[in-house]
Amino acid sequence: MDSRKKILNEKIAAAYLGGGKKRIEIQHLKKKLTARERIAYLLDEDSFEEMGILVTHRSNDFGMEKQHFYGDGVVTGYGTICGRLVYVFAQDFTVFGGSLSETHAEKICKIMDQALKVGAPLIGLNDSGGARIQEGVRSLGGYADIFYRNVQASGVIPQLSAIMGPCAGGSVYSPAITDFTLMVENTSYMFVTGPNVVKTVTNEEVTSEELGGANTHATKSGVTHITSANDVECLEHIKKLLSYIPQNNKETTKKIPYELGDELRIDLENIVPENSNKAYDMHGVIKGIIDKDSFFEIQESFAKNIIVGFARIAGRSVGIVANQPMQLAGCLDVDSSIKGARFTRFCDCFNIPLLVLVDVPGFLPGTNQEWNGIIKNGAKLLYALSEATVPRITVITRKAYGGAYDVMNSKHIGADMNFAWPTAEIAVMGAKGAAEIIFKNEINAAENPDEKWKEKEAEYASKFTDPYGAAERGFIDEVIHPKNTRRKLIKAFQMLEGKTVITPNKKHGNIPL
Ligand code: HXC
Repeated sequence: MDSRKKILNEKIAAAYLGGGKKRIEIQHLKKKLTARERIAYLLDEDSFEEMGILVTHRSNDFGMEKQHFYGDGVVTGYGTICGRLVYVFAQDFTVFGGSLSETHAEKICKIMDQALKVGAPLIGLNDSGGARIQEGVRSLGGYADIFYRNVQASGVIPQLSAIMGPCAGGSVYSPAITDFTLMVENTSYMFVTGPNVVKTVTNEEVTSEELGGANTHATKSGVTHITSANDVECLEHIKKLLSYIPQNNKETTKKIPYELGDELRIDLENIVPENSNKAYDMHGVIKGIIDKDSFFEIQESFAKNIIVGFARIAGRSVGIVANQPMQLAGCLDVDSSIKGARFTRFCDCFNIPLLVLVDVPGFLPGTNQEWNGIIKNGAKLLYALSEATVPRITVITRKAYGGAYDVMNSKHIGADMNFAWPTAEIAVMGAKGAAEIIFKNEINAAENPDEKWKEKEAEYASKFTDPYGAAERGFIDEVIHPKNTRRKLIKAFQMLEGKTVITPNKKHGNIPL
């Protein structure tokens, strides 16, 4: 073989070995795939084209001049997933612990720039000890270069971050800016400062897993959107998530071919209990409306009083935001408002129509909520839905009380089609509380106040606790039988396909953060 070709082959072989066989073995012992194995699993077979395989760091401090690894701890390039172009970087923990050097950052920035120019999703597979300690500020600058690009790309191309190992210090902030963060249980963690620093500063004893493991971020902080049992499941989740999302903000998600049937769903008729104080699972409503097995729930274990996720209706990708009566009676609180708002804004960025399912008795009362800013946080959901220009449809299944009626995609804030089931109760508040306030004197003066209260409660309920007052004013477009819901939604989403909205000229709005 020509010696020059041999040199090339040797260099590529060395690059493929990353930090060497021993470190690859350690990676496998930790039940983690290597960066290249992850890319190979994620992308269509033989579709990956690598960029910058021969890049090495430029550091001459702390003995670094003697240690060079091709690729410098990150594999970058492009390929396809189900035939769709994506850009991907995978940090290689076997090379300096996947730490981010100046050149490592340059490689990531190069594909980010290209993904933005071409209009294709960016996927980051993170597995890194953070800033390359030997490089000091050059590494910090590299992080900032990535953060800046994350922000420029936000709302233009979808950005997905999988955390598949450690993710500490500044390296958490790029995933935090991106659209979705996925974590692998037991092998990944995210925190700004690790357990040692926490112990020094606050004297708290906490493990890495407790502080920033997948379970913590799925249930307590809401930082992660999807958790997976292992690397393979995480990569499968990325593929699935991508199937609901278009390439960029100028496109819509490709519809899956669907042949229309009668689309009646009889099961929906019996979901809402007779007793309006009894809970039921909104997942059942979602199941009865969407295409079979098409629901992909996001942030499943966080703020369970609101459900958000993607689904398909007659092959069309939609985002669902739904109150969950099984948790806190479906009340809106700080966390659920933030969860709903963030998801709504993602869908609006990427032309994914929204379906809002309403059963909400109001905002959750209490000092905890007020002191944690339910005013400004509840306003996030109100703001996000009000500014969304994608097709927006609402179905009120039961309660739509008070301010929460307005917030949950009411006609007044720009929803396109508003349906209600006959079981809908659209009112300022529940009949019992309302009667107590407006008939206080009458109740107190009555011979039997309890009986009077009940009588007045019934009077209020019969007048306001139904969908007809709203329908008479056109706030509800149609009161429908539950079994017809799917049929109505298929037609309405089809009708709204050509929706365009001209918004006032402004730099950007000022969502209450
Ligand atoms: C250079 C690093 C490194 C780093 C790990 N390595 N982190 N090299 N810079 N940040 C190297 C190790 O020296 C080791 O090299 C190899 O990677 C594997 O590391 P181990 O410690 O053996 O692995 P493990 O026991 O699994 O522990 C992983 C770890 C630990 C928890 C990530 O390595 C660690 O704590 N690293 C430092 C984390 C950190 O403090 N980073 C800086 C955060 S500050 P050999 O040659 O032995 O294989 C930050 C600021 C950014 O990121 C701010 C931007 C705004």
